[in-house]
Order: sequence, then C-alpha cells, then structure tokens
Amino acid sequence: MTRLHLKRINKIRAATVGIFLCFLAGGIFYSPVVPGGFVAGAQRKPTPRPRVRTQTQRRTATQRRVPRYSQFPHNKHSMNCAACHKFPSANWKTVRKTDAFPDITEYPRHESCLSCHRQQFFKGARPAICTICHTASTPKGAPRHPFANPREIFDQSAKGKTAAASDFQIAFPHDKHIEIVSQTEKTLNGTLFVNARFKRAAQGSESCAICHQTYQPQGASEDEYFTKPPAKLGDAFWLKKGTFKTSPMSHASCFTCHSADTGILPAPTDCATCHKPAAPLTKTDFDAQLAAPMKIDDRIALLAWRKRDSSATFRHEFSSHADLDCTTCHNAAAMNTTDALSKKVPVTSCNMCHITATTDDGGILNFEVEARQKDAKFQCVKCHIAFGKLPVPESHIKAITAAAQ
Ligand code: HEC
Ligand code: HEC
Ligand code: HEC
Ligand code: HEC
Ligand code: HEC
Ligand code: HEC
Ligand code: HEC
Ligand code: HEC
Ligand code: HEC
Repeated sequence: MTRLHLKRINKIRAATVGIFLCFLAGGIFYSPVVPGGFVAGAQRKPTPRPRVRTQTQRRTATQRRVPRYSQFPHNKHSMNCAACHKFPSANWKTVRKTDAFPDITEYPRHESCLSCHRQQFFKGARPAICTICHTASTPKGAPRHPFANPREIFDQSAKGKTAAASDFQIAFPHDKHIEIVSQTEKTLNGTLFVNARFKRAAQGSESCAICHQTYQPQGASEDEYFTKPPAKLGDAFWLKKGTFKTSPMSHASCFTCHSADTGILPAPTDCATCHKPAAPLTKTDFDAQLAAPMKIDDRIALLAWRKRDSSATFRHEFSSHADLDCTTCHNAAAMNTTDALSKKVPVTSCNMCHITATTDDGGILNFEVEARQKDAKFQCVKCHIAFGKLPVPESHIKAITAAAQ
C-alpha cells in the first residue's frame, strides 16, 4: 500500500470520528428545531419559534416552504459544476466492469457541502441530508446509493427506481455531429475516430441507430404488452413493447470523442455545455392516471412516456412504422434537443396512411375529426391519450385539407 493511500485512509478515519463526535454533541446541544427553521426530517413539522415576531415576519414564515434536505436540488446551487463534481471520480475504473473510461461515477464528497450546510450535517441523530448519498442516516456511515451515472446501474437500484427525471436536459446538436464526422473522416483519414461505431455516423439515417434503439422490442415473442393487461382489456389502451426509442444513457456515446486525449470540445469537464437546466414539462399527451394501473416501474420507459408531446400511443416497432426512414418523422438536423417545440413530430408525417383524401379512404384522422364534429364529447384515442379530449388543433384540419388536394 502506498504512503499516499494510507494518508488518505487516515484522513477519512479522522473525518469519520469527527463527524461521530459532532453527532453526539449535536444530539445533546441542538433542539429539534434550530433557528432559521431547518428541520431534521422531512416529515417533522416545524414548531413556531418562541420569539415575538411582527405581522409581516409571521406571514413570510408561514409562506416559506419547509426545506427538504433529503433531496438535492441543482436549481438552488447555481455554482460551477466542478465545485462539487470532481472529474474523474476515484472509483471510475471499478464501477464499469468492462470498457471503463475516466468519468464521474461517484457523489460529491462532504467538503462540497460543509462550507454551507454544517448545520444540516450535524443535525440530530439522523440528519436527513445524509440520505441523498448514503442508504441510511447513521453517524458511522452507511453504504452509498449507486451514483446516477452510469444510469444502467443506478436505474436498477432502489433509489433509481423512484428517482425523478434529471434536473438537466442534454444539449446535443445533431446537425454538427453528422457534418463533423464526415468532414473529419476526410481530412484526418479516420485516424482520430478509430472507433468503428462512429465511422458509420457519416452515413445519414443509419447512424441514428448508434445512439437510438427500439426499447424492449416485442421481437418474435407472443407477448405484445409492456406489462400484463387485465383479462378483459377490450379496446382500452395498454402500453405495448417496442413503443419507445432509447437515447444515450451515459457518457459512453460521447466521451470516446470528447476526451482529454482528443482535445475535442466540450471536454468531459465542461459539464454545463452538454447538461442544461431542465425546462418544466408543458403540455404533454401523457396521463398518469391511465398509466398507474399498468404498474410500470421501468425508469427508461416512464421518463420517455412522460415527455411525449406529439403522440403518446405511437409505437416505433410496429412494422409499417419501422419500415420508414427516421427522417420521415424527425428532422434531426433542425432539432434543438433542449427545445420541446423543435422536437414535435408534425402530424403531416402520418400522411398517406392515417390521413386520406376522404374518410372513406380509411384515414383515422379523417374519421376522428368527423366523429368530433358530430359529437363534441368524442375522444380521439388512436394517436392520443390526454390530447384526445382537447379541441382539434389547426394543424390537423390543415393536414386533411392538404390530403384532399
Ligand atoms: C453544490 C454541489 C453541486 C453542484 C454545484 C452541482 N452538482 Fe450535480 N449533483 C450534486 C449532488 C449532491 C448530486 C446527487 C443528487 C442525487 O443523487 O439526488 C448531483 C447529481 C447530478 C446529476 C445526476 C442527477 C440529475 O439530476 O440528473 C447530474 C446530471 C449532475 N449532478 C450534473 C451537474 C451539472 C451539469 C452541474 C453544473 C451545472 C452540477 N451538477 C452542479 C451536487 C452538485
Ligand atoms: C455555497 C453554499 C452551498 C453549498 C456549498 C451547498 N449548498 Fe445546499 N443550499 C444552499 C442554499 C443557499 C440553499 C437554499 C436554502 C433554502 O432554500 O432554504 C441550499 C439548499 C439545499 C437543499 C434543499 C433544501 C430545500 O430547500 O429543500 C439541499 C438538500 C442541499 N442544499 C444539499 C446540499 C448538498 C448535499 C451539498 C453538497 C454536495 C450542498 N447543498 C452544497 C447553499 C449551499
Ligand atoms: C453529497 C453526498 C454525501 C452526503 C450528503 C453525505 N455523504 Fe458521507 N460520504 C460521501 C462520499 C462520496 C464518501 C466517500 C469519501 C471518500 O472516499 O473520500 C463519504 C464517506 C462517508 C463516511 C466514511 C466511510 C465511507 O462510507 O466511506 C462516513 C462515516 C460518512 N460518509 C457519513 C456521512 C454522514 C453521517 C452524513 C450525513 C451527516 C453524510 N455522510 C452525508 C458522500 C456524502
Ligand atoms: C452520437 C449520438 C446520436 C446520434 C448519432 C443521433 N442522436 Fe438523436 N439524440 C442524441 C442525444 C444525446 C439526444 C438528447 C437525448 C435527451 O434529451 O435525453 C438525442 C435526441 C433525439 C431526439 C429527441 C428525443 C426526445 O426525447 O424527444 C430524436 C427524435 C432524435 N434524437 C432522433 C435522431 C435521429 C433521427 C438521428 C439520425 C439522423 C439521431 N437522432 C442521431 C444522440 C444522438
Ligand atoms: C412514422 C413516424 C416516425 C418514424 C418513422 C420514427 N419516429 Fe421516432 N417518434 C415518432 C413519434 C410520433 C414520437 C413521439 C414524439 C412525442 O410524442 O414526443 C417519436 C419519438 C422518438 C424518440 C423519443 C423517445 C420516444 O420513443 O418517445 C426518439 C429518440 C425517436 N423517436 C427516434 C427515432 C429514430 C432513431 C427513428 C428511426 C429508426 C424514428 N424515431 C422513426 C415518430 C416516428
Ligand atoms: C464522432 C465523434 C463525436 C461523438 C461521438 C460526439 N461528439 Fe460532440 N462534437 C464532436 C466534434 C468534432 C465537435 C466540434 C464541433 C464544432 O466545433 O463545430 C463536437 C461538438 C459538440 C458540442 C458543441 C457544439 C457547439 O455548438 O459548439 C456539444 C454540446 C457536443 N458535441 C455534445 C456531444 C454529446 C452530448 C455527445 C454524446 C451523445 C457527443 N457530442 C458525441 C465530435 C463528437
Ligand atoms: C459531451 C457532453 C457531456 C459532458 C461534457 C458531460 N456530460 Fe453528463 N451526460 C451526457 C449525456 C448525453 C448523458 C446521458 C443522458 C441522460 O442520461 O440523461 C449524460 C449523463 C450524465 C449523468 C447520468 C444521470 C442523468 O440523469 O443524466 C450524470 C450524473 C452526468 N452526466 C454528470 C455529468 C457531470 C458531473 C459532468 C462534468 C464533469 C458531465 N456529466 C459532463 C453528456 C455530457
Ligand atoms: C394519426 C395520428 C393522430 C390522430 C388520429 C390525431 N392526432 Fe392529434 N396530434 C398528432 C400529432 C403527430 C401531433 C403533434 C403535432 C401537432 O401538434 O400538430 C398532435 C397534436 C395534437 C394536439 C396538441 C397540439 C398542440 O398545440 O400542442 C392536440 C390537442 C391534438 N393533437 C388533438 C387531437 C384530437 C382532438 C384528435 C381527434 C379529432 C386528434 N388529435 C387526432 C397525431 C394525431
Ligand atoms: C406508411 C404508413 C404509416 C405512416 C406514415 C404512419 N402509420 Fe401508424 N400505422 C400504420 C398501419 C398500417 C397501422 C396498423 C393499422 C391501424 O392500426 O390503423 C398503424 C397503426 C398505428 C397505431 C396503432 C398501433 C398499435 O399497435 O395499436 C398508432 C397509434 C399509429 N399508427 C400512429 C401513427 C402516427 C402518430 C403517425 C405519424 C407520426 C403514423 N402512425 C404514421 C401505418 C402508418
């Protein structure tokens, strides 16, 4: 064992003992509610402070939400990412069993928090803040949850299964990548991009499959549905396998090119160039109530479904759909992955098959629009879940008019 290693272990030991002592002290000297209104457990209600307050002070005190120290919010910490995330993590070689590369695979360490949250760290016998990173809140320390990266491991963990969507969304300029890859191949003769997977990226639409695959395809199996439907399903909707396409889940698809070795920017340490604060979901076609009985605990499927804002029922694997080129429905080059509007699939891409000159030609859109005109309560269920109850948008009427010409 090296000297440095021993020194580190001693340091951790000292820190551990330190924390433990502070806990004992904390247990004795701190009352459950400390000035400032911080509360140890999320479930515990704050008791009024025994100070005399003015009317306005009282009002702001009741309006102020109780801080939740069991969940880490990035939007309350607008600091440099590197203040907390040190690249690479010490454990990067062991987290991935194969094909490991320098990466962020561990939680930030105590030092990243202590300067501001000493109070929450030394709060009572079981500080809520520990459980962000550790599986339990005990002075001796408990094992840590897997870190959110790589998601393949995290999503399977107890924490991952119930974790909300990321605080961030990914900025990935499709146009630049398709161009760049072909260009660089010409000029650098492939020396830079030795990874054969990315040579194919130059060939337009086929390249999409490098980063996007059909998720949980039905394939040759008889089992059509994502989870077991009730015996009497009838015409009711139940999520099918092969509905979603995956997107890159980790840095493996990016850091082959964006690494310290290649020098291609953004560097792996430029977290904020690829991770942009997530915008709240606006109007989507997803319906949580309809999804609940399906008991889907698969994070990839649920996150994708919740985001659907064009057609919640559309299934990629379905043969008539899978035979089409991706660009029939997705103009990837014009997409801004952080702008939901630019990712919408235009209804006109359902042309020919679901939109026809007349209703008699079999177009389901024609049929549903006509049904709605006859009965204002008619719900459109072919392509939609939540949207089907709303007024018919102009884009749909225009698509029918265009098909008739
Ligand atoms: C004040 C410390 C701090 C700063 C600054 C910080 N992070 Fe984090 N980050 C954390 C902690 C703690 C976690 C673990 C949270 C959890 O698992 O609930 C985390 C988790 C994450 C995750 C996984 C969870 C998710 O929401 O997707 C991503 C991605 C991430 N950070 C990216 C960033 C980026 C990008 C920046 C800079 C813009 C940044 N972080 C700045 C502390 C920080
Ligand atoms: C530079 C100071 C600073 C650092 C460093 C810092 N925080 Fe914070 N943190 C804050 C402030 C300010 C708030 C907002 C408090 C509020 O809204 O009442 C906050 C809020 C929080 C909250 C949410 C409380 C709520 O409002 O629900 C959690 C959880 C948290 N921090 C955890 C952490 C963790 C874990 C780290 C280290 C990885 C960390 N913070 C590092 C300043 C900091
Ligand atoms: C932001 C994430 C985070 C929070 C919050 C956090 N820890 Fe840790 N903790 C870590 C990391 C990462 C390590 C490993 C540090 C290292 O290897 O140097 C660690 C190590 C420890 C250790 C040393 C033994 C071990 O598991 O490696 C103890 C004990 C410990 N933490 C206790 C606590 C307690 C108690 C709390 C709450 C008061 C707490 N931690 C809060 C991330 C966190
Ligand atoms: C090198 C990897 C890579 C390649 C190649 C690639 N994409 Fe993407 N794509 C991404 C990333 C990263 C995102 C952002 C994912 C996210 O938001 O989580 C994305 C997002 C998308 C989205 C939006 C997904 C959503 O959640 O709404 C569509 C649609 C898409 N890509 C289609 C395509 C098509 C079509 C091609 C081929 C022309 C293609 N992509 C090629 C990496 C890639
Ligand atoms: C017939 C039209 C059509 C074709 C062809 C098509 N898609 Fe999609 N795709 C959609 C629709 C509709 C959505 C749902 C968009 C929404 O509601 O947000 C979608 C969503 C996606 C998403 C986001 C994840 C999801 O499933 O919700 C990705 C990624 C994607 N498509 C990639 C591709 C790739 C790659 C191809 C080619 C192999 C492809 N698509 C072919 C219509 C199509
Ligand atoms: C085949 C190699 C390659 C792969 C794989 C790759 N990139 Fe890139 N990327 C590049 C190159 C080269 C540039 C520089 C483009 C320029 O300067 O115009 C770049 C530029 C970028 C930029 C900055 C664009 C700008 O506006 O300056 C972002 C963001 C980015 N990549 C994100 C990603 C993400 C996210 C992934 C993984 C899903 C990824 N890249 C995978 C080669 C790659
Ligand atoms: C070249 C672009 C790029 C850079 C630079 C980058 N990331 Fe990522 N990161 C991605 C993509 C793409 C994903 C996969 C998308 C996803 O899972 O949401 C991802 C996933 C993650 C995850 C997995 C969890 C999640 O929900 O997104 C964490 C954590 C994370 N990144 C943190 C960081 C941190 C911290 C840094 C800086 C040290 C960083 N990333 C730098 C592109 C990048
Ligand atoms: C063949 C599939 C299909 C059918 C049938 C269909 N839609 Fe849509 N709908 C789409 C697509 C694709 C989009 C996203 C593009 C757009 O907004 O035009 C969409 C979008 C919408 C939106 C959201 C518009 C917005 O501004 O965000 C509403 C509301 C909607 N449809 C209602 C309906 C109603 C009501 C019916 C029945 C009369 C119907 N749709 C039938 C495919 C369909
Ligand atoms: C090339 C023709 C074609 C195009 C383009 C096309 N579809 Fe389809 N789709 C079909 C056929 C054929 C079926 C099977 C018959 C049926 O259910 O109408 C089908 C079935 C469906 C189903 C029912 C799938 C199931 O498994 O229950 C949905 C939902 C759907 N399409 C949505 C869409 C949406 C939304 C678009 C446009 C974004 C679209 N389709 C574009 C041919 C097409």
